[in-house]
Amino acid sequence: MAQSSGANRKVLVLPGDGIGPEIMREVLRIVHFFDRRRIARFEISEDLVGGAAYDAHGTPLTEATLHKALTSDAVLFGSVGGPKWEKLPFELWPERGLLRLRKEMDLFANLRPAAVFEALADASSLKRDLVAGLDLMIVRELTGGIYFGEPRGIEILSDGTRRGINTEVYDEAEIERVVRVACELARKRRRRVCEIDKANVMESGGLWRETAQRIRDADYPDVELSFMYADNCAMQLVRAPKQFDVIVTSNLFGDILSDCAAMLTGSLGMLPSASLGPADASGRRKALYEPVHGSAPDIAGKDLANPLACILSFAMMLRYSFDMAEEADLVENAVRHALAAGVRTNDIAGSGITGASTGEMGNAVLRELEKVV
Ligand code: IPM
Ligand code: MG
Repeated sequence: MAQSSGANRKVLVLPGDGIGPEIMREVLRIVHFFDRRRIARFEISEDLVGGAAYDAHGTPLTEATLHKALTSDAVLFGSVGGPKWEKLPFELWPERGLLRLRKEMDLFANLRPAAVFEALADASSLKRDLVAGLDLMIVRELTGGIYFGEPRGIEILSDGTRRGINTEVYDEAEIERVVRVACELARKRRRRVCEIDKANVMESGGLWRETAQRIRDADYPDVELSFMYADNCAMQLVRAPKQFDVIVTSNLFGDILSDCAAMLTGSLGMLPSASLGPADASGRRKALYEPVHGSAPDIAGKDLANPLACILSFAMMLRYSFDMAEEADLVENAVRHALAAGVRTNDIAGSGITGASTGEMGNAVLRELEKVV
């Protein structure tokens, strides 16, 4: 295991809005446990983002927080947004804070693994045999496409009505780098990549296809590459999800398909993610880890949220930012055993059953960690 020799691992914690602070609290309990047991030590600093930052500073992301994020080894992110801020001008919405972080940190590769824990195979809305053993990885391009493309905005037409505009735009280089990440990941898995687009209606989709094929032929001949239209992929994800190994796709399709894939695992409350930037000269990447789910304002502050996606995001941080595979396994196994012991928050408890609270779910994970270290 990695030494706890006080190696400086600078982590910026941004709990955000809604259930963000509650689920992050459970992650921090694990961080403190690792510290107490001398498993690993992190230099943690905490800050505001999203609506919380707007309430305190009038902006969803201050320059100071952005600077901290850019100079940290990793960022742990909760969730942002909520009805409280929906009347604000668009640039001040909590989500803008997250999108600016992604862009400024150049976090172009968003890894969203959808793996089914055996104990949860019955919690999926699909039949057990369709999802048992499922293990797929969605690689979503995160800093381009229609989320950031220009022109964008709302125009007033000559008759006084309005026109909303967003633009899907991808340079070859943007496609190339995310396809490479997908191929590298596939090499550590089942060596299959499926590229998803709408090449039947969008020229940019055709460019995705051609670029993916070129990169695969030149540098990853050992990886099998296939293509699928996004609408078909949505259907295939609920029809036969185990056909996929690694999926690589644009920002918008990745957003949509990953929510769909999340439900296969039982609940949106289970899916972690890692957002990675380009490797620098020393091989290090800027990185942000966040659950795929949102801020769930309807249950915020009630101690009902499932903290597992956030806890599993922390495990991804150990694995991808700090090369601590053993410690990441510890956390993932603790989650697996807590679920096997029957501890469930409402989202995975099954209808009519009152689930555990956020804190109880966190306790269960800590109990399992205590058993093994
Ligand atoms: C996600 C979320 C975000 C996105 C929102 C909160 C901006 O849905 O990470 O999937 O659309 O990317
Ligand atoms: Mg989303």
